[in-house]
Amino acid sequence: EKGGYPHFMLKEIYEEPQTLRNAITGRIKSKLPHFRELEKMGEDLTKIKGITVLACGTSYHAGLVFQRFVQDYAGIRAEIDVASEFRYRNLPLGEGDVVIAISQSGETADTLEGIRKARQSGAKVVSLTNVVGSTISRESDAVIYINAGPEIGVAATKTYVAQLAVLLLLGASLALNKRNPEVISQLVNEIEGLPTVFESVLASADEQCQRLAREYYQFRHFMYIGRGYSYPSALEGALKLKEISYIHASGYQAGELKHGPIALLDRDFPVFAIIPEDELKAKMLSNIMETRARDAKVVAICSESDREVSRAVNSRIEVPKVSAPLYPLVMSPYLQLFAYHVAVARGYDPDRPRNLAKSVTVE
Ligand code: M6R
Repeated sequence: EKGGYPHFMLKEIYEEPQTLRNAITGRIKSKLPHFRELEKMGEDLTKIKGITVLACGTSYHAGLVFQRFVQDYAGIRAEIDVASEFRYRNLPLGEGDVVIAISQSGETADTLEGIRKARQSGAKVVSLTNVVGSTISRESDAVIYINAGPEIGVAATKTYVAQLAVLLLLGASLALNKRNPEVISQLVNEIEGLPTVFESVLASADEQCQRLAREYYQFRHFMYIGRGYSYPSALEGALKLKEISYIHASGYQAGELKHGPIALLDRDFPVFAIIPEDELKAKMLSNIMETRARDAKVVAICSESDREVSRAVNSRIEVPKVSAPLYPLVMSPYLQLFAYHVAVARGYDPDRPRNLAKSVTVE
């Protein structure tokens, strides 16, 4: 049932091109994003005052990308909280507020309770899930399915990619009455091209990540850094590594290093820098210099043919060039495959990480 792959996690990463196709299908009409599921919300969506995103773990990281995107692109004020905090925080919500709850399983206890609280306060809840008929889908005002198919590996891989693709389309659809349709259809077109981009990425990523994993699997600590759209990738990369390889890994906004975390770095503490070709690259390069000055080794994931980055780091992986909000997508298979190969090199079963369950139905 693993289709010839040694682990479900690897199989599911290789399913990502098809997962993306399924996630996008039916969500584009006349070159523009279209969500039939939201039609019943009518007025509520055209009069949004603000958006609040609720999620846990990897789904929270997808939410961080969406929060930034919906603000940047659709000009809608957006907040985000992990569900276990949201539940115990008094965020004033009411009419005009839309809560986007993201949960692959649709059963996460804290997210479910967050939804209940939000609805009681008068906000409308749109949930994004992979499981038809799940508790969260039943308790929301509208449901968007990511259509990723079953994911067996405990580590979220293809579902993260599907969440990101659907969330970008959703953000773009919320920008429809604010932006030039030409601009939106260009972005949609780029999203439609992602399955092909992923096919070419997956043709070489596995070997590159395996090579890197062989170089780095014995370290006990890892720091992931990024800025802007790459900060969620830093968090997600660190989460993937720690949950399946049990190496201590943390993600930081690169600009925060000098406010504390840089004190940790030395030659035994490598840094994984997510540094695509975007408006924050120069700032990232200077953060990389700071870490090199502490003798930390730096692995970078950068855009292809980036000489500046390749001169500044010890090892690198190149990803295809895309628009800034799409980088979290194209970075994902590399972060996932690196964590996978490190776990395997350390002798662990990545499909069944210790102490973790696929869906967290306890609070
Ligand atoms: O089912 P959910 O998306 O609500 O699950 C939330 C987290 O438990 C989940 O994303 C977890 O962090 C991942 N399995 C980690 O890979």
